[in-house]
Amino acid sequence: MKLVFATNNANKIREVQALIPSHINLLSLTDINCLEDIPETQDTIEGNAIQKANYVKDNYGFDCFADDTGLEVDALNGAPGVYSARYAGPQRDATDNMTKLLQDLGSSSNRDAQFKTVIALTLNNKLDTFTGICEGEITKAQHGTDGFGYDPIFRPQGLKNTFAEMSLTEKNTIGHRGKAVALLVDYLNTL
Ligand code: IMP
Repeated sequence: MKLVFATNNANKIREVQALIPSHINLLSLTDINCLEDIPETQDTIEGNAIQKANYVKDNYGFDCFADDTGLEVDALNGAPGVYSARYAGPQRDATDNMTKLLQDLGSSSNRDAQFKTVIALTLNNKLDTFTGICEGEITKAQHGTDGFGYDPIFRPQGLKNTFAEMSLTEKNTIGHRGKAVALLVDYLNTL
């Protein structure tokens, strides 16, 4: 069975392929010759994940799963949320985004936040979603250099280190994306 993972990140594909039954053959967007930017015009993380999976199904005919992630900050009413990639502007720059977030939060004592990943799966004319959440807080300054995006200013609940101060293995174990992928893999293993 062929299943598209709506990404061109070979590492992500290899990681998930290793966890699912071998009769499911994962394909990237390049593998199916989908070279255009897939529209992400919804105003929720879940909506964008579903839009991407449906786009591949509708335009290329393959069953597919797609992920979308955002950082939701309580004191900012859930911002930047679905707009996390371009919070500080269309240049999608991680440092600009962190600077704006720290400015917007100012000296607020409520620094609670969560990362949320939603994976949408279209399979056999059925749509399912799998959600992974990692709760934590926004630090007052950047700490660490690993990872990407908002990692240097996000400290998972109960831990001393930000995501940017931990190994990828540790981040994947407790992180939002790892949890959503684990739910997807559990589901695919029941097929
Ligand atoms: P995407 O949906 O995976 O493309 O994520 C959207 C945006 O959320 C990224 O451009 C990053 O700014 C942010 N983001 C997503 N995942 C992470 C993460 O694991 N750590 C830090 N930032 C992330």
